[in-house]
Amino acid sequence: MSTDRIISGKALEDDAPVDLSLRPRQISDFIGQQKLKDNLQIAISAARGRSESLDHALFYGPPGLGKTTLAHIVAVEMGVNIRVTSGPAIERAGDLAALLTNLQSHDVLFIDEIHRLNRAVEEVLYPAMEDRSLDLVIGKGPGARSLRLSLPEFTLIGATTRFAQLSSPLRGRFGVVYRLDYYDENALAIIIKRSAKIIGVKIEEEALLALARRARGTPRVANRLLRRVRDYAQVKADGIITSKVAGLSLKQLEVDDLGLDEIDHRLLYTIIDKFNGGPVGLETLAAAISEESDTIMDVYEPYLLQLGFIERTPRGRTATPRSYQHLGLEYKRGDAAQTSLFNDNP
Ligand SMILES: Nc1ncnc2c1ncn2[C@@H]1O[C@H](COP(=O)(O)OP(=O)(O)OP(=O)(O)O)[C@@H](O)[C@H]1O
Ligand SMILES: [Mg+2]
Repeated sequence: MSTDRIISGKALEDDAPVDLSLRPRQISDFIGQQKLKDNLQIAISAARGRSESLDHALFYGPPGLGKTTLAHIVAVEMGVNIRVTSGPAIERAGDLAALLTNLQSHDVLFIDEIHRLNRAVEEVLYPAMEDRSLDLVIGKGPGARSLRLSLPEFTLIGATTRFAQLSSPLRGRFGVVYRLDYYDENALAIIIKRSAKIIGVKIEEEALLALARRARGTPRVANRLLRRVRDYAQVKADGIITSKVAGLSLKQLEVDDLGLDEIDHRLLYTIIDKFNGGPVGLETLAAAISEESDTIMDVYEPYLLQLGFIERTPRGRTATPRSYQHLGLEYKRGDAAQTSLFNDNP
């Protein structure tokens, strides 16, 4: 098993059942993101008070921070059904029309990866979101006529890791946009504690903090680390996650004290050694470390940017003095900034 599977915020195959069992069902179980929760709660109470559906809402932010969880929570708190689909799953305008006409009053339609909707489908969505109407074209050629159907009141919830890829007409049709941020260590410690209780494993306070510190601000990573460390505790110790067991297990998993793994290290060393600290374009970097540029952009970069270890410049990625320091290297930049031949990313 490679370590990229451990620290990636993206869902992996074996996360699915666990994600589900550890997923908070109610807003009171949803830890952290206080401001977002406050705003959401007000919006929900207000809509309920008026017996209306909730405004269309968009959740965006890096993988594993709770977007899908929140969509389900909204439905529970509103006391309505949720229909779940995703951008790539809706291939034709007709697929979306079928989903929309099957909604019951006040239902939530959740579209995950909404940035991946195709243009034709998006165009059906605009009038549906704006005035709950569905324009259908019946027949073909000169005899074709269009028909306008009205839809029940519904709430569209969209989720995306790529806010910038959303078209502006679509963005503009959401009543509210909620951005999810990385979690602080306290919140992650509470999440791990709750998860440990659910999966029935004992964990010492100090071990809890050690995992929280390495979870990259991401609940999904926190839960995954907990599972791996539990395995280790079961096989190599007596099942209890003490701080010693946690330390040994994390070492075995090659996760460093900031939660960086071997690929993060490779990425940083590559910028520093091969490209003189940068700037280096994303595609070039991806090729140099044999990773997909999408994975670098969604999984590795956001956290390294958050730590202030790399910077995105118009000419590519650069490593900051902080990253040199973390790797125990002396900061010295060549004049790579002026002479780099590797700028493939504007
Ligand atoms: N605030 C939270 N409190 C407790 N657990 C959480 C919280 N947010 C997320 N989780 C846990 O993390 C897991 C991943 O969350 P979720 O699937 O909602 O992320 P996501 O943002 O939809 O990710 P993706 O972008 O990959 O779809 C959940 O199953 C849940 O166990
Ligand atoms: Mg999701």
